[in-house]
Amino acid sequence: MARRGLSIDVEIRLYTGSDRDAVISVMRDLAVSELETYDRTRQPEDWGAHDIEEFQREIEKSKGTMLVAELDGAVVGFCNLHTHRNTEDDQDEVYYQYSYIGDLSVLMQYRSLGIGARLIKHCEEIVRAAGVKWLRLNVSATNTRGRKFYAEHGFEERLILLEKSL
Ligand SMILES: CC(C)(COP(=O)(O)OP(=O)(O)OC[C@H]1O[C@@H](n2cnc3c(N)ncnc32)[C@H](O)[C@@H]1OP(=O)(O)O)[C@@H](O)C(=O)NCCC(=O)NCCS
Repeated sequence: MARRGLSIDVEIRLYTGSDRDAVISVMRDLAVSELETYDRTRQPEDWGAHDIEEFQREIEKSKGTMLVAELDGAVVGFCNLHTHRNTEDDQDEVYYQYSYIGDLSVLMQYRSLGIGARLIKHCEEIVRAAGVKWLRLNVSATNTRGRKFYAEHGFEERLILLEKSL
């Protein structure tokens, strides 16, 4: 069955400096949504240019890519793809490389049109071409819609972070 909206004319392309303010808006919408399911998320207005600079530093370390989704000339979605991460610092895992998707988000008014699906697909193509076998991401346990979205895209829950309030 075709997913809704897959025929919309969205282009997935590399981030450029002129996308900065649009990406900050996308990150602020992500923060609004995350606050609905996790109350220790940063406030939307706290996101700014310094975060984009931090993204760039992190992306460089993992030979990754910042991707934007553009619709009718406007940036409506974003994600960071960390293409080469490894388990070097995880003492309980054997050494292997994986890729990691961070900060995937679509502007509120453009959700449920298939744009998130296009971003994920594009990441998968990059990861396959890079010869990396695993693609990871984090999602909050209470984000049922987000978890359903990732499950539909073939992501399986592997490591669960447990916490007790004291
Ligand atoms: C998750 C997200 C990136 C998906 O992008 P999208 O363009 O809406 O995705 P698609 O159109 O390809 O698929 C839509 C599905 O995304 C999921 N989804 C998760 N959170 C959603 C939200 N806040 N609004 C709408 N859909 C959401 C739902 O499963 C939805 O299916 P439905 O429309 O049948 O309910 C986007 O909805 C978003 O930015 N959500 C808020 C942030 C978030 O929850 N991120 C994931 C965890 S970090």
